[in-house]
Amino acid sequence: MSETVAEMIPATADLSQLREIAAGCTACGLYKTGTQTVFGEGAPRAQILFVGEQPGDKEDLAGRPFVGPAGRLLDGALEEAGIDRTTVYVTNVVKHFKWEPRGKRRIHKKPNAAEITACKPWLEAEIDRVDPQVVVALGATAAQALLGRSFRVSKQRGQFVEWPAPGGRLVTATVHPSSILRAPDDERDAQLTEFTRDLTLVAKELEG
Ligand code: URA
Repeated sequence: MSETVAEMIPATADLSQLREIAAGCTACGLYKTGTQTVFGEGAPRAQILFVGEQPGDKEDLAGRPFVGPAGRLLDGALEEAGIDRTTVYVTNVVKHFKWEPRGKRRIHKKPNAAEITACKPWLEAEIDRVDPQVVVALGATAAQALLGRSFRVSKQRGQFVEWPAPGGRLVTATVHPSSILRAPDDERDAQLTEFTRDLTLVAKELEG
């Protein structure tokens, strides 16, 4: 049987050691179809840590999170909200790309509960090592992984929830940038404005 992620993580491992160990992760079946583990990256002591769902097609090939279209939208919104992208950390709940073929394309498939549970210790270890002041869940998968299955992004986005951890960490959730890319043309601008507003709230929260 494959080792669980929790068994793979030495208590003393720092972020770069975690990344190296995660590269060989076989704790769920997704390593068979994903090109590589896509571990989080960014400022090692970031004040803000963003959590997406899973790497997309571009991220799977590059081995880096949020480098495709959703990442570009996030970059633009961060700039608009006055958050320096080089000061944040970005990662995903699930570290391998789950997809199904459609013609020649690889179409994103939602990770299931077992895959999310198997992968979660990586996310918990990243949050522990980075020790951010605010964790921002992007979309329902990340929000529910962090805040429980009853969390509804549509109703609770932009709220700040205290995380039971030393240092008084906060968790908040907003929509996933991919959902804005998928929005009908006549709704996209409004959705982007709301997303940027949520990020602005995060910046304000950090200013105190
Ligand atoms: N969507 C995600 O949730 N994460 C990525 O890294 C890219 C797209």
